Amino acid sequence: MNNPERIIQSWHENAAAWTTAVQEDKIASRKLVTNSAIVEAVLRQDVHKVLDAGCGEGWLCRELAAQGIDVTGIDVSDALIETATRMGGGTFLTLGYEAFAQNPKLAGSGYNGIVFNFSLLDADIVRVLLAARKALVPGGCVVIQTVHPFTACGDAPYEDGWREEHFTAFGALFPTPMPWYFRTMGTWLSELSEAGFVLDKLEEPLHPETGRPASLILVGR
Ligand SMILES: C[S@@+](CC[C@H](N)C(=O)[O-])C[C@H]1O[C@@H](n2cnc3c(N)ncnc32)[C@H](O)[C@@H]1O
Repeated sequence: MNNPERIIQSWHENAAAWTTAVQEDKIASRKLVTNSAIVEAVLRQDVHKVLDAGCGEGWLCRELAAQGIDVTGIDVSDALIETATRMGGGTFLTLGYEAFAQNPKLAGSGYNGIVFNFSLLDADIVRVLLAARKALVPGGCVVIQTVHPFTACGDAPYEDGWREEHFTAFGALFPTPMPWYFRTMGTWLSELSEAGFVLDKLEEPLHPETGRPASLILVGR
């Protein structure tokens, strides 16, 4: 199995552990910083119809729906989409990025915001971002939150490449490790541009305990 296939497989197998980790607030950085950071970043865009791509169990959809936004969530995992549907707040659809890239209309259309919250994990994200552009109305925006490259790099060389997540910090039992593609700040910016987006805003929310950047938020138009 190649790494893109392993990412998908890991989400099929980790769906229950992920749902527990998110719904029981087991990921400290999310609770302290990154959940509110992404909600506020999206709300600042003055959007009314949003696609949450790689929505997981749907917490962000529910938060945005509570603010009156019409939200659709897509995810490759049936189990996560089932949970999201049961909990409500939006329209949910099992849809992987491969199919989305081939036919963006499968995710619907007319969005003025598309959000990827820690859900761009593969090496090839440009084709997914190109599909996102097609699903946006003119002037619409993409909002991406990802692990901050300076923090996520750790002691490894600061260069693009595959890493492996074992979820050990998440306090729940994840059966399957996940490959993910580390990209530098420069690569994030150049790939956003390659997909035709112009950078509108770059945010680096700080972890209140460590003072280190907890995440990177990019807004492209
Ligand atoms: C770290 S989780 C984030 C979930 C959610 N955005 C959140 O913030 O809680 C990554 C999500 O990306 C989804 N994902 C990974 N690869 C995908 C793919 N190829 N197509 C669609 N979704 C994918 C996973 O199923 C998972 O729900």
